[in-house]
Amino acid sequence: MASKRELIDRSGESMIVNCYKGCYFYRGGFPIPFEEHMKRVENMKLRSDDVLLCSYPKSGTHWLWEVISMIINEDLEYRERVRGMDLLDFSPMSLLESIKSPRVLACHFRFQFLPKEVLTKKPKLIYILRDPKAVAVSFYSMEYGMKTVRSYDGHVPVKEYNGKWEDYLELFLNGDVEYGSWFKHTLGWKKAIEDNPDLAVFMLKYEDMKRDPVLSIQKLSEYLGKPVNAERSQAIADACSFTNMKKVNSGTKADGIGWKEGGNMFRKGQTNNWKEWFTVAQNERFEDILKSNMNRSDVST
Ligand code: A3P
Repeated sequence: MASKRELIDRSGESMIVNCYKGCYFYRGGFPIPFEEHMKRVENMKLRSDDVLLCSYPKSGTHWLWEVISMIINEDLEYRERVRGMDLLDFSPMSLLESIKSPRVLACHFRFQFLPKEVLTKKPKLIYILRDPKAVAVSFYSMEYGMKTVRSYDGHVPVKEYNGKWEDYLELFLNGDVEYGSWFKHTLGWKKAIEDNPDLAVFMLKYEDMKRDPVLSIQKLSEYLGKPVNAERSQAIADACSFTNMKKVNSGTKADGIGWKEGGNMFRKGQTNNWKEWFTVAQNERFEDILKSNMNRSDVST
């Protein structure tokens, strides 16, 4: 049963998220019941040349979406600033259907919420993974900073979250945030990849992209059937560097959020920035929970 859920931190600050089949989703409101939106996604028509980029939020989705778009279109055009990223999470079907092939679609869904035709049309499927400590910090910065988000008809206001980092971290560790538990999302995807070898999902890590973008882009381009040489890979890596993407996209459609003062989708773009946020005790607690969660097998909701 779809509904809204208020997720309240230990100091009483809260966020309101959409809830469907026991999982938490996007914070934005919809002009139709959220359940109806999810059913439309489930039943949407895919094309065999679609590329579907999946991630837990804050894992580098915007970055990779632009890289993939440049690879498959064989150019160095920035697309996000013009149209915004095509997320299934909040885009109306009319918009998704109007996109010319090859489409690069994205979503933050767990595997079971993807369009059913994924199993028959077998689009290229890519999953990007990021260090959950970096995700937690990046997510807090976004959740704290957002005032409006994209929905069917432009932007809609969200209930502002004014919580403290240490309180948000507890919500994150409990999975009481948009898109639920990072642990369950990640484990669910790993299991889905193992259970569906014929889908040949390409998994890559944010940290590997940062360390060696040229190599990562080359591997990705091979998976996409559009292999690029080192020179072209370097050109894409440069065009999509953090500095360039921040410059090109800030304040445009790519930034699908209306921010409080100082907020930005392109915040730091680093692998170690989380160290400036975590106390020693928070880090130890995170490590303990990470270890115990990554061994669990009950990842269904
Ligand atoms: P930080 O908040 O740590 O800076 P998503 O696109 O999934 O929402 O992820 C957002 C995160 O990716 C943000 O992390 C953002 O700065 C980072 N990011 C965006 N573009 C990037 C790029 N070109 N290179 C590296 N990181 C990038």
